[in-house]
Amino acid sequence: MDTAEQLEIQALARDFAEGELRPRAAEWDEARSIDDDVFAKLAELGFLGMLVPESDGGLGFDLSTYLLVLEELARGDAAVTLSVAIHCGPVTDLVLAHGSDEQKARWLPRLASGEVVGAFALSEPEAGSDVAALSTTAERGPDGWALRGTKRWVTNGSRAGLVVVFARTAPDAIGAFLVEPGSAGYRVGGRERTLGLRGSETVAVELDGLVVGDEGLLGDPGDGLKYALQALDVGRVGIGAQAVGIARAAFEHATTYALERRQFGRALAEFGATRSKLAEMHRRIAGARALTHEAGRALQRFREGAGPRTGPEGVTALAAAAKLEASESATWVADEAVQIFGGYGYMRDYPVEKLLRDAKGTEIYEGTNEIMRHVISREVLHAARPAGE
Ligand code: CAA
Repeated sequence: MDTAEQLEIQALARDFAEGELRPRAAEWDEARSIDDDVFAKLAELGFLGMLVPESDGGLGFDLSTYLLVLEELARGDAAVTLSVAIHCGPVTDLVLAHGSDEQKARWLPRLASGEVVGAFALSEPEAGSDVAALSTTAERGPDGWALRGTKRWVTNGSRAGLVVVFARTAPDAIGAFLVEPGSAGYRVGGRERTLGLRGSETVAVELDGLVVGDEGLLGDPGDGLKYALQALDVGRVGIGAQAVGIARAAFEHATTYALERRQFGRALAEFGATRSKLAEMHRRIAGARALTHEAGRALQRFREGAGPRTGPEGVTALAAAAKLEASESATWVADEAVQIFGGYGYMRDYPVEKLLRDAKGTEIYEGTNEIMRHVISREVLHAARPAGE
């Protein structure tokens, strides 16, 4: 995609975020719910099919355009963007990368049009970072696979028309299943009460003998964990963009406020302490954005078979680095924005405390930053080890 086209799409996302998301973000945060019309409008713009090929009804964006849109949306509201990113990132990627022709034909057009929203059910009460320890089971029977277990932190779990569920198909094997929530045995459990991203309808899901036929098994029944980790690479690059969007919103509020607010007879922006904070905020946002787009390019190359997954320049390490850098920058920037606002920053009536709460989430979901450090060091050390060790 050429730059002029990208700028046009970016402007479209920015207008949507400024017109439809930013003015309503505080209300959704308070209500812990996002109005349904937003998903219809996102679908109308095609933003629920950003990574679906045009031949399957999507927009077929390259990674860099996708990241520009996510950043703009997150600048408007991070809770909505989390829903969009799970749907467009891990869920779409799983179907694209591992779906059979029938599965692609069945799901990709519906995901692209927004007819169904996608969810990703991997984590469990006792298996978060140590995801290989998940205990949901998929037992093979005459009618297909019977799924039993509890999933937690399922974003879009109550709104979804397609949930990718990861379950143990054998004591040493994990499979991935395309589950339709209307099926018997799918129950939405408790709604999670979260610090930030409160509009996002993140729920627990109970699977009680839900039967999935072979048409719902994704790829090889023993490769689900690898599929999940690969899909999380896509998710983590997207979180980089989401975090940059949150940081930008906090930075913009802080600069405006620093110019308006007067103390000791001068605008805050005239104090060296404030200027130094603004300079650091700008530096960290620019760095995080650059790394996120570098990871996006690595992912693009990997998808085109022209770049590695592993090693320091591979998509897995760069995706983890982008998420790590952008999320820590977002929390830091939002924290400084609260500080610049002072007493008003601590009030719910001003927008920056929400941004700090939302930013913290990006350090945790789709792999904590401790896991990101583990992944990066694993990739770097593995590449540096002499062959055969
Ligand atoms: N893509 C494909 N395959 C991958 C991979 C990737 N990115 N990363 C690892 N693999 C493969 C490895 O090649 C290895 O395969 P073999 O067994 O054939 O060699 C296998 O997967 C296991 O890999 P490692 O042994 O190298 O894994 P590890 O033990 O070093 O680390 C882990 C595993 C990084 C800790 C991983 O378990 C992990 O990322 N945990 C975090 C999970 C996570 O992000 N959870 C959040 C889910 S999102 C959610 O719940 C909802 C939400 O937040 C909104």
